[in-house]
Amino acid sequence: MAPRHLMSPLDFSTEELDKLLDLANDIECNPDKYAHVCEGKRIATLFYEPSTRTRLSFEAAMMNLGGKVLGFASQDSSSAAKGESVSDTMRIVSCYADIAAMRHPKEGAPLVASMKSLIPVINAGDGGHQHPTQTLTDLLTIRSLKGHFDHLTIGLCGDLKFGRTVHSLINALSRYEGIKFVLISPEELRVPSYVRDSLVAKNIPYREVIGLDSDSMKDLDILYMTRVQRERFFNEEDYLRMKDFYILDKEKMKLAPPEMYVLHPLPRVNEISVEVDNDKRAKYFEQAQYGVYIREALILTLLGLEVAQ
Ligand code: CP
Repeated sequence: MAPRHLMSPLDFSTEELDKLLDLANDIECNPDKYAHVCEGKRIATLFYEPSTRTRLSFEAAMMNLGGKVLGFASQDSSSAAKGESVSDTMRIVSCYADIAAMRHPKEGAPLVASMKSLIPVINAGDGGHQHPTQTLTDLLTIRSLKGHFDHLTIGLCGDLKFGRTVHSLINALSRYEGIKFVLISPEELRVPSYVRDSLVAKNIPYREVIGLDSDSMKDLDILYMTRVQRERFFNEEDYLRMKDFYILDKEKMKLAPPEMYVLHPLPRVNEISVEVDNDKRAKYFEQAQYGVYIREALILTLLGLEVAQ
């Protein structure tokens, strides 16, 4: 049977997604039940770009399930440095592991790799395109905090042009009833036109604003902050001009609704002041913890493994 891959958060139907989130919640509440389910299984983490959370949470997830981990953390420490293609690499890794997570600076590279793979491949971030497991993490966090997705107003702030987590999250949330977006960014870092076009095509209300202020925050259920993606800028001058455009601090949090939770895929640079970390609405560290539970659920689902209930 052909393996099932994960390239986009839309690869799961909303019903499948609900099941996956339920499984992640069960793993969170009953870790011992799942502690041996992946014994004898291996995950390969193939990271051609830097990562802390995604790579280590995949590895932690597999270890929590009783499995093992192998892989590389940079392009330079693999035969990609000698010119090997992602397809050949993936074909080889299929001999060594049962499932793989791949991050790559080129958009579509994990998809190309999946075409030659004999094992499930997970897109762990491809260029400025998609980051589906971050989106699954975000969805689990939002559902855990708010209890539902329908009729939420989500603010996304920062680098909406290059931030792949933003594109994936808008895509995934667009499937829910009554969802609204407030897109907060400088003119130069607005969402790509294909993201805007998809909102228009689905008749989803959204507004694009520049200020992070009481007007843009007043109706928000979630404020999703993002870092300006230095590695995707063509010149350093533009990056330096943009990098501190938004800084969420204690004063700005006073303007926000009492039930507006702050998320961030992390890493942060300056866009959230550390003084906000103690605000009870700051949930970005919990979000990173949810990333382990959802990746455990994803590994089990793609490997077709279940535990007796
Ligand atoms: N959120 C995220 O993708 O973080 P890393 O780049 O550290 O994996």
